[in-house]
Amino acid sequence: MRRKIVAGNWKMNGSKDLSEKLVGYIRSEAGSLDSGVEVVVIPPAIYIGDVLRQAQDTVAVGVQNVGQWQSGAYTGEVSSEMAKDVGCRYALVGHSERRQLFGETDELVAEKVSRVVSGGLTAIVCVGETLEERESAQAEIVVASQVRTGLSTVVQGEWKNVVVAYEPVWAIGTGKTATSDDAQAMHAVIRHVLKDMGAPAEEISLLYGGSVKADNAAALFAQPDIDGGLIGGASLVAKDFVSICRDFPANT
Ligand code: 13P
Repeated sequence: MRRKIVAGNWKMNGSKDLSEKLVGYIRSEAGSLDSGVEVVVIPPAIYIGDVLRQAQDTVAVGVQNVGQWQSGAYTGEVSSEMAKDVGCRYALVGHSERRQLFGETDELVAEKVSRVVSGGLTAIVCVGETLEERESAQAEIVVASQVRTGLSTVVQGEWKNVVVAYEPVWAIGTGKTATSDDAQAMHAVIRHVLKDMGAPAEEISLLYGGSVKADNAAALFAQPDIDGGLIGGASLVAKDFVSICRDFPANT
């Protein structure tokens, strides 16, 4: 059975105070959540220690980005080894904001993925097309290529440390969500590509991200190839985030 995952990407938001209140609330509700749902909080790196202390093992913690190196003269960077050392279990790789604002290519994503998964963290690898690419009917080609290149460094035995998040760029922070049918269709394409790459595709969790809210999560999570969500804005609102964590169909 695939892992069901709800991951909250705080992006460059938060504070010590928010870490305490938000994670404190999630922790207080954790006992009433479906035990089959893995809840992941991904704060700015500087708050990871605060979040880990608050989480007390009730939620998993991730890092938003890692460098492609292990250590050295790379001012401002954090390695996946360091993230694992302090207690993180997940690392986001290739978020569209990293691709668009920091020039991350699929090749760089592949390097980072290799470092993350070989070191034992789970990589949440983000893919997704722009509006222009969707409108010119290139969405599937773009996303398939991001998956093939971004995951080209994963070797047998490491796939258990891979999660793919489909985040259409036009849906991020815009209030526009892909319809659950469109999201499902792209998830099916991603699973097909993974299978074609020789990965155990049926065992790999695929998350949808892009304006997921408490009122649309259930329809998305009911789709056969959508195994959870990567949540931005709504992950900063404690009640909304926890409500999304409850939005899986009862029989899965
Ligand atoms: P929003 O949920 O704010 O659209 O952000 C999605 C996202 O980018 C999560 O990584």
